[in-house]
Amino acid sequence: MSENHLTNLIAYVCEVRGDGMDARITEQYTTNLPMLTIGNDEMLAGGIGSYVVVRQARISLLALVSKIWEKDHFTHGTRQSERFIALIPVGEIDAENRFIRGVRQFPTPGAQVYAVGLNEINAIFSKFSDYRFFVGQLASHKEYHVSLDPRTFFGRHFAIIGQSGAGKSWAVTSIIQNAIKAMPHAHIIMLDLHGEYCWKDSNGHLQSAFAEDQVNYIDATAMEMPYWLMTYAELVDLFIDRYDPGSSMQKSYMREIIQQLKRKEAKRIGLTSVTVDTPIYFSLMELYKQFKAANEEMKEFGKVHGALFGQFDEFMIRMQSRFNDVRYDFLLKPKKFTSSESMAGILRQIVGGGDHKANITVVDLSSVPVGVRPAVCSQIGRLVYEFNYWNPKRREFPITLICEEAHAYIPREQGGQFEGTKKMMERIAKEGRKYGVSIGVVSQRPTELSETMLAQCSSFICLRTTNPEDQAYIKGLVPDAEGDLTDILTSLGRGEALVLGEATPLPMRVQIYRPNPEPKSNDVDYFTHWQDGLDYLDVDEIVNLWRTQTRR
Ligand SMILES: Nc1ncnc2c1ncn2[C@@H]1O[C@H](COP(=O)(O)OP(=O)(O)O)[C@@H](O)[C@H]1O
Ligand SMILES: [Mg+2]
Repeated sequence: MSENHLTNLIAYVCEVRGDGMDARITEQYTTNLPMLTIGNDEMLAGGIGSYVVVRQARISLLALVSKIWEKDHFTHGTRQSERFIALIPVGEIDAENRFIRGVRQFPTPGAQVYAVGLNEINAIFSKFSDYRFFVGQLASHKEYHVSLDPRTFFGRHFAIIGQSGAGKSWAVTSIIQNAIKAMPHAHIIMLDLHGEYCWKDSNGHLQSAFAEDQVNYIDATAMEMPYWLMTYAELVDLFIDRYDPGSSMQKSYMREIIQQLKRKEAKRIGLTSVTVDTPIYFSLMELYKQFKAANEEMKEFGKVHGALFGQFDEFMIRMQSRFNDVRYDFLLKPKKFTSSESMAGILRQIVGGGDHKANITVVDLSSVPVGVRPAVCSQIGRLVYEFNYWNPKRREFPITLICEEAHAYIPREQGGQFEGTKKMMERIAKEGRKYGVSIGVVSQRPTELSETMLAQCSSFICLRTTNPEDQAYIKGLVPDAEGDLTDILTSLGRGEALVLGEATPLPMRVQIYRPNPEPKSNDVDYFTHWQDGLDYLDVDEIVNLWRTQTRR
């Protein structure tokens, strides 16, 4: 640390605990305007979120200010105030001015506390700045641009959490835009649940939050996700009600029939071994017919019911209703992908390797019915995972899958309707890293999100969160000593985040850059439209669109 530090002495440590310390601000800075200048940097001594260095003999700790308060006492009728700051130590600074995370040696009361300027911060962060993967500005030093370590950030899963409207979608957009700037060969696949990242404007032109040559837009409904690519577990999610008392019978019969149908197909295409999950074509009609036959089977010239007679009434009704529901057509009635041979086409479309080499594939799920979204998400996740699992060049072709609104299909609850989806996503979280597939989860409810999923994340971008349960949960995700930091979560502004985890040298409060272009926000402008309202709405058209399931 440079010598001019001596003038930046702002406090003396007065209490040291296992998880932090308090310090008393010097008299010089116990004023109404405790301004401090370091280099060209002007700041308030002891401002929340600012960094300080605690020094004593050979100990040199970097700490973050988490709280500031005053205590008054009266001597001979005059009031005197003492000012204190609470510090969260985040790491040590060694003799070569290098930053090391974690604290091995704590100081004692009396240790000196110095404010830190931009130069020192630069030195500490230099290793990270070299990556030039900039995501925003440090809240305590607006001139300082924060770069994360993209190896860790994209390589070991990340989570972006914060309440609705905190700026998650904007943060995702901004981070992807900057990732592509820093790494022009980035491969990202985005599960876009609300059509926020690509959308059609009123003239029907495709708009996107990413440059035209970088993005590959897929409308999930037009794409077709043929049912025969689904795993057995996903098909169970789709066709069998787990709470139906006859569900275990339905499950085992379905397994048997699918296996049988797939064996036939395997023979046709010359595949020697086959399981119920082998991605090859089978006919759904055939599956239905066999269930129907078993359900109506009569023996001994119609005198005795077959063993499975009437067992599948529920199942048949559920399957029929799925089949007649046009919203499921893209899944159950594929037109393009109706043979085992068409599979490479599907993969090209999603993962790339086709004509259009894009950095980001946006899969727009907004027109997919809510009930099948989990199945589609898990299928895309699985295709991506399997693609790289079998890709001999997987190490040179790492992919990140971003899951918007992840709590909707990677839920915490056990044994829910979307168990198959959840298991698949958790598997990617646990094993994907090895095969160059990482996940970025985006969610407003960390408490409703799968714990396995979150536990695998090593970086967290926490936007404003006021719900105490979610706050407590986030607190539990970070190391003990840094837990107090999460108190800041309530005070974050729009687009402001607490960045935690391994991709940053230390916990930081960061103003994420505004994305350019911006995603299509969900905020409906009530004020403007209620001021100058529409005079006419074509209700007949709405009825027609609803009936034909066409969203514009
Ligand atoms: N970095 C930012 N800078 C300025 N405004 C922002 C920023 N991030 C978000 N906002 C504002 O907040 C609104 C909601 O953001 P959004 O990303 O849609 O929230 P979420 O996805 O968390 O619900 C945006 O429409 C925008 O007006
Ligand atoms: Mg959003």
